[in-house]
Amino acid sequence: MNKTKLLLLAIGLGVLACTLDESSIATAYLDLPKTPYTYSNDTVNNYVATLGRVLFYDKQLSINNSVSCASCHKQELAFADNVKFSKGFENRLTNRNSMPIQDLSPGFSISLFNGITSNSITFTTNIAVDPALTIFAGSGGTFLFWDGRESNLREMVLKPIGNHVEMGIRDMKDLETKLAKVPYYAGLFQDAFGSPEITSEKIGRALSAFLFSITTTNTRFDMASRGQAQLTALELAGQALFTTTYECNACHQVQAPHGYVFAGAFSNIGLDAQDTDDGRGGVTHQNADVGSFKIPSLRNVALTAPYMHDGRFETLDEVIEHYSGGMANNPNLDPRLREGDAPMRMDIPKYDKEAIIAFLNTLTDHKMTRDEKFSNPFKHK
Ligand code: HEC
Ligand code: HEC
Repeated sequence: MNKTKLLLLAIGLGVLACTLDESSIATAYLDLPKTPYTYSNDTVNNYVATLGRVLFYDKQLSINNSVSCASCHKQELAFADNVKFSKGFENRLTNRNSMPIQDLSPGFSISLFNGITSNSITFTTNIAVDPALTIFAGSGGTFLFWDGRESNLREMVLKPIGNHVEMGIRDMKDLETKLAKVPYYAGLFQDAFGSPEITSEKIGRALSAFLFSITTTNTRFDMASRGQAQLTALELAGQALFTTTYECNACHQVQAPHGYVFAGAFSNIGLDAQDTDDGRGGVTHQNADVGSFKIPSLRNVALTAPYMHDGRFETLDEVIEHYSGGMANNPNLDPRLREGDAPMRMDIPKYDKEAIIAFLNTLTDHKMTRDEKFSNPFKHK
């Protein structure tokens, strides 16, 4: 090799080193158990979920190998992010706050929460079970994203890959070709689907199978309702204030995994007098829905700061302060938060605030956020 060629090679490697960051795929290797973990009892095929786990953590799902799903959805934060807006593949910011990923299967709520009833919850019954893979198809029932613009998880998981801010691979065919050149995928697709062929449909199935397996079944709140733990007096006081006194659970259904009532899943809580983000209104094109957002699940809420669709509040204290006396007189303010024509003032005293926050802290599932089977399978040598 002559000097010019060597120089060109060196420049080439230099460019490569700049586009891949230090945790790049070049130095990473897969560290998966030979027999996959049991992702769930009966709803998820383990090999499909394992493939989904690899895809979720693989930066090669972005156009310049710089971000993975996990860049904005971090396991230790219940798969949310700890910044107002997250950075995409070109360091541009998302226009909404990243969301936790948990309890996304509509089938899950029925099997797991049998026996815990709520008069205002109506569970969806039209669950389509995929006979070949026994994965809940997520038909109906779930609203995905802050504005609920997607409902089918299998299709939804491909959207961030194509998104111009998030991962930037516009054409799914390009992704199929790209992943076909990555050595470990042939075997993973073979194990999951009986053939090494890579299609975006299979990518959607695998990612959604992995996401469906992430559930919050081991919070202290759940353990207490199963008689396996005892909440403290302060936490119990907080639960009563949350449910009865301030009626937070008219919207936030903490006992149901999705966290919201299916009929009436969106609400405008008067963050501003005038909205800058149309929210649900951008999907339905109804004036009455402008500034309404999906009622977020409060499971793992202690880990998912900053709060609201735009990450405007840093702490739970600030959130409660908003309900206490900070709601703006937005024309679409939810009637449940009005008193006559004016925004309700809850005037929540200090002790009540502390108790509510103590209660919200019982909704954290530390097992889920530490579970090895949801962790990054790429290790560095
Ligand atoms: C650059 C940051 C970023 C990346 C990368 C990213 N996401 Fe997201 N994710 C977000 C943001 C921001 C939202 C909320 C967007 C909105 O509501 O408009 C979101 C929402 C979601 C939701 C909706 C959760 C719910 O309860 O409605 C799911 C599921 C999800 N992302 C999965 C993924 C998957 C799978 C990938 C990888 C293929 C991924 N995300 C990549 C930032 C990101
Ligand atoms: C009328 C329905 C409604 C009521 C009542 C309500 N909330 Fe909310 N809550 C929402 C909606 C909708 C959001 C998201 C709003 C947004 O981002 O624009 C939200 C957001 C939150 C968040 C932030 C969650 C996150 O992940 O960003 C917390 C915490 C919260 N509410 C706690 C409470 C508490 C405590 C009460 C009772 C004092 C309460 N809420 C009463 C509808 C409601």
